Amino acid sequence: MSEDLPAQKLRTGPRHVAIIMDGNGRWAQARGRPRLFGHHAGAKRVKEIVRACAPLGVEYLTIFGFSTENWKRTQAEVTGLMSLFRQYIRKEARSLKAEGVRVRFIGDRPGLDTKLQALMDELEELTAENTGVNLTIALNYGGRDEVARATQRLAQDVADGTLKPEDVNEETLPKYLDTCVLPDPDLVVRTSGEARISNFLLWQSAYAEYEFIDTLWPDFSKEEFRKLVEAYSARDRRFGAVSA
Ligand code: IPE
Ligand code: IPE
Ligand code: MG
Repeated sequence: MSEDLPAQKLRTGPRHVAIIMDGNGRWAQARGRPRLFGHHAGAKRVKEIVRACAPLGVEYLTIFGFSTENWKRTQAEVTGLMSLFRQYIRKEARSLKAEGVRVRFIGDRPGLDTKLQALMDELEELTAENTGVNLTIALNYGGRDEVARATQRLAQDVADGTLKPEDVNEETLPKYLDTCVLPDPDLVVRTSGEARISNFLLWQSAYAEYEFIDTLWPDFSKEEFRKLVEAYSARDRRFGAVSA
């Protein structure tokens, strides 16, 4: 049966799922607790979703942890989030390594504190040989910032004569993006009811399928994740063509 299907139809599930983990603040507020309580609850959800990937055939999971716009929050929240990221890496490094997860970070790294940058580098190095799920964490990430940084490096290569202007195209440009080693996301999920992408993976998600769901991130479960992955399989991705 499957021999008759065109190659791109053989895989029905998403290979790469990207998640905008939104709603931590509202989740905490609904409980009369400070926003950071929601961020801690949100961080605890990540492990279950990472573990759910392999059985569902999801090879790449990319999660939005902190945007280039999130610096506009109160200093207390920003400091609390940065300390949470450091704690999270320290606490989870061993089990990520043991579970075969390969961790990468995307975003403007020099804009983060040096202690956090060092922990990020160490975790990438520690898991570099892992061949399981590819977990990419976006920290100090903005799609426009990423394209601007990529363009700077591309322009430098043109100035240095290593890249010809006529060779700048849809294949060469993404090699300068933070995501250069990742496939494009097939499915982008945003929790918390907002129907916007807030500067996440702008170039990469040009043809992604989107799911905007009402659940607040700290309530997101592997069952809900499985339902979204299954719903994706029923979609007809046409990429501008006409379905068979
Ligand atoms: C998402 O939750 C986490 C980050 C942006 C760091 P929010 O903090 O945006 O939660 P809401 O949207 O205010 O509920
Ligand atoms: C997007 O959520 C960023 C992350 C999930 C890290 P925001 O809560 O910052 O997005 P807006 O402000 O509602 O667009
Ligand atoms: Mg939000």
